[in-house]
Amino acid sequence: MSHTEKSFIFEVKPAEASQIDLVHRIFSPEDFSLPQHRRYQVQSNGEGVYLIAWDHETPIGGFLVRWSGPQDEAVSSRIDVSGRAYLEGGLTLDEYRRKGVATAIIREAERLAKLHGCTHIGMEVGSSDNPDAKRLYEKLGYIDWGCGDFTISWESKDAGGNSRIDSEVVTFLQKPL
Ligand SMILES: CC(C)(COP(=O)(O)OP(=O)(O)OC[C@H]1O[C@@H](n2cnc3c(N)ncnc32)[C@H](O)[C@@H]1OP(=O)(O)O)[C@@H](O)C(=O)NCCC(=O)NCCS
Repeated sequence: MSHTEKSFIFEVKPAEASQIDLVHRIFSPEDFSLPQHRRYQVQSNGEGVYLIAWDHETPIGGFLVRWSGPQDEAVSSRIDVSGRAYLEGGLTLDEYRRKGVATAIIREAERLAKLHGCTHIGMEVGSSDNPDAKRLYEKLGYIDWGCGDFTISWESKDAGGNSRIDSEVVTFLQKPL
């Protein structure tokens, strides 16, 4: 799918195996836990699609859409997440922000999730530390689930193999498809 904005044309499509090393070098070269490869693995397993936006040969943004999630107990203990799509790993490169890249990827994710039979789509977003992302998602129709904030953690690895755990207080946003 192509998106045109004056002279800026970009394309949103599912990742291909041959592209993932490049996506890693551009999106997360310092994270040796290889998050880009893990997201592609989700797609290879048939559990979702890793959508990448391209400016010609350059990957400029991406979101992983899973056909089910999140697995975080704070959400899955309150909502039956099966049949509910879940967006994660959202990123647009700094120099490509505020040009509609994330909007286009999210719309494509919603289209694919609906085709897959999902009834809802959601994502976690920083409750107070990521107002730009939250505002964008709310603009796209995502609504706070109303059950409060919770903390998520994730692991990254540096070149020496040292693990680092980061965490964030998030809330869950969702919309029906
Ligand atoms: C959050 C993030 C993915 C958004 O990506 P983006 O590609 O800049 O998003 P969009 O361009 O679609 O939308 C951003 C804003 O630009 C506006 N916009 C969209 N198309 C536009 C255009 N053609 N011209 C000008 N503005 C535009 C949107 O309406 C939105 O406005 P808002 O700030 O008032 O809500 C990006 O900021 C990012 O990578 N942040 C760091 C990582 C992160 O926080 N990820 C999300 C974790 S939940």
